[in-house]
Amino acid sequence: MPKTIYITTPLYYVNAAPHIGHSYTSVAADCLARYHRLRGEEVFLLTGTDEHGQKIAQAAAAAGKAPQAFADEVVERFRELWSLLGIRYDYFIRTTEPRHEQAVREVLTQLRGTLKQATYQGWYCTPDETFWTQEELGHQSGSSPTCPSCQRPLEPTNEEGWYLPLRANQRWLQAFVAEHPTFVQPETRYNELNSLLEQPLPEYLCITRPKSRVSWGIAAPFSPNHVVYVWFDALLNYITVPKFLGRAQELWPADVHFIGKDILRHHAVYWPIMLHEMGLSDAQMPRRIFAHGWWKIGEQKMSKSLGNIVDPTIVVTQLLKDQPYAADVYRYFLLREVPFGQDGLFSEEALVKRLTTDLGNDLGNLVNRTLSMIDRYCASRLPLAAGPGCAVDDESLRSLATAVPAALEQALSELNFSSALETIMRLVTEANQYIESQAPWSLAKAGHTARLHGVLHVLAEVLRIVAIVLQPFMPSVSAAIWQQLGLEGVPQRLSDAARWPGISDSRALAAHPVLFPRMEAIKTG
Ligand code: MSP
Repeated sequence: MPKTIYITTPLYYVNAAPHIGHSYTSVAADCLARYHRLRGEEVFLLTGTDEHGQKIAQAAAAAGKAPQAFADEVVERFRELWSLLGIRYDYFIRTTEPRHEQAVREVLTQLRGTLKQATYQGWYCTPDETFWTQEELGHQSGSSPTCPSCQRPLEPTNEEGWYLPLRANQRWLQAFVAEHPTFVQPETRYNELNSLLEQPLPEYLCITRPKSRVSWGIAAPFSPNHVVYVWFDALLNYITVPKFLGRAQELWPADVHFIGKDILRHHAVYWPIMLHEMGLSDAQMPRRIFAHGWWKIGEQKMSKSLGNIVDPTIVVTQLLKDQPYAADVYRYFLLREVPFGQDGLFSEEALVKRLTTDLGNDLGNLVNRTLSMIDRYCASRLPLAAGPGCAVDDESLRSLATAVPAALEQALSELNFSSALETIMRLVTEANQYIESQAPWSLAKAGHTARLHGVLHVLAEVLRIVAIVLQPFMPSVSAAIWQQLGLEGVPQRLSDAARWPGISDSRALAAHPVLFPRMEAIKTG
């Protein structure tokens, strides 16, 4: 039985409602999952929320709520957003779920012998829930160092607890990373990991917190005075879920962990070391960790504590309120605007520009013109036959269209979403140019009916292919194009995209309202 493709998103902190950065990871993960499903593969997409730790406890206290009650409320914001954006996950794990808590305790009990009990001196970044040793802070000395990752002030810590050996695993990790050049992607992050591993790692990672300071966490099984460090707890979800669902055989190892670049160290250093200490072999390590870039506003990373967040719900339901496929427009923008892995600048102008040009002028126009001409010249029925004459033009568009699935496959094997969309949109542009060059209206005037129908046949086939290949990116738009063509259901199989012709009976078109109403409607609406 082929392995189920197992894709994960990070578990989002429930200290605040989701923003664009969170939605980015989930949209990308959902797009990849949908792509594999379209290829007929079994897929399991795991997402969820990270609900323990000081950061959540503080946010709950500030809201005057108990942590669990607070988490129960915020988690709904995530679920609602995923539903709004068409994120189709197979399981939603909350780290406060008893089955997960139990599994974490079991792992700790299993690791008890390898952990060291000691007192830790160092620095702690509460917003990142991350420890830093003086060594790692390098040149920063004195009493107020800042976090190397988020630049916020660190708090001194001096705590007794249990420690996972990091440095003792460094050689193993270095060798593993060297043998698996695609373990971390993109290449910049792989190189970053290698440079991190060229320096000595801290000897240990403290994986407990004293209850006296942080009570909101999973009770450590062997110490009544400690809870489990939130990262240790959260990372384990990737393996606890397949285990408690009884699907570890089929799912593990994870095929892709999608993360943002700020949590590379946790995923590419701590996580494999945890698994290695748990006795997993090299072949059982996660196959790929992809660390994408940040969405920024101006020069800054978008983040709640910087107070510069953009709420995706507002973008979709307010800015794009007149768009029938607002969520898909948003998904398209995120995946097309910036090469996955690089940082991007978010602005409403950039979003509206993509909507107006790529989606309105190019894609929407192609669909609308083609279907309107089929209405007018073919009595609203899909023309089936290839036309006589101009075979060279037909052939060149046909070969471009039927090559798109392979190009998509290549781009998505590298998780290059923007280049995949660029390829699809190139086909759209070429098809629009084909309309100009073939000028169906002139063919109609001149009475060249067979050729006219042939041209519209080619265009209908291109639309059919576009509907299929767009499915992972814009599922609702894909379904709408499919239905407007009068085809049944929704695109099911990517392999159908390379078939030409794929439309076998002369179906009647369905109603075809404009997919992307013009910009003015947004402004005045
Ligand atoms: N709870 C941890 C992850 C634990 S995984 C076992 C966490 N949560 S988070 O809510 O802070 O971040 C979740 C994801 O959102 C991370 O991948 C992070 O990189 C991403 N983003 C948060 N802000 C971002 C941007 N401004 N831009 C893009 N993504 C960023 O970290």
